[in-house]
Amino acid sequence: MDIFKAENKVIIITGAGSGIGKKTAILFAKEGAKVIVADVNEKGGNETVAEIKKNGEGFFAKLDVTNREQSKQMVKTTLGKYGRIDVLINNAGIVQDAPQFGFCRTDQNT
Ligand SMILES: NC(=O)c1ccc[n+]([C@@H]2O[C@H](COP(=O)([O-])OP(=O)(O)OC[C@H]3O[C@@H](n4cnc5c(N)ncnc54)[C@H](O)[C@@H]3O)[C@@H](O)[C@H]2O)c1
Repeated sequence: MDIFKAENKVIIITGAGSGIGKKTAILFAKEGAKVIVADVNEKGGNETVAEIKKNGEGFFAKLDVTNREQSKQMVKTTLGKYGRIDVLINNAGIVQDAPQFGFCRTDQNT
């Protein structure tokens, strides 16, 4: 197995129901990975899987990453289907302004 290629890798991506996770999931599936789309949002997750299935393989796992039992179940389901997990992309989350770090502020005059 070539560790630098996605082909045949089993890849879990949390938060793959939209945004960065969705794009990443579709790209990896096109490269031949088996992608587990793990998201709390069922509609978004199923839409990602529908895109994936145009060119590749994967399935949706309803998951709230803050829920330990759901996380365990997702791992169990993945191992039951594919026998292994090669990559975990912990992408789920929410985007918030972080003024205490100054991440989102730019001064147009400097
Ligand atoms: N977009 C940006 O500019 C940016 C910048 C810095 C960091 N990030 C980080 O990148 C990640 C993705 O950002 P994005 O812009 O694609 O966001 P997004 O809102 O488009 O997608 C986030 C996905 O995570 C899912 N999600 C949220 N909480 C969840 C939970 N508890 N369990 C499972 N799924 C959950 C949502 O349903 C959604 O599908 C986030 O962690 C975000 O904080 C994004």
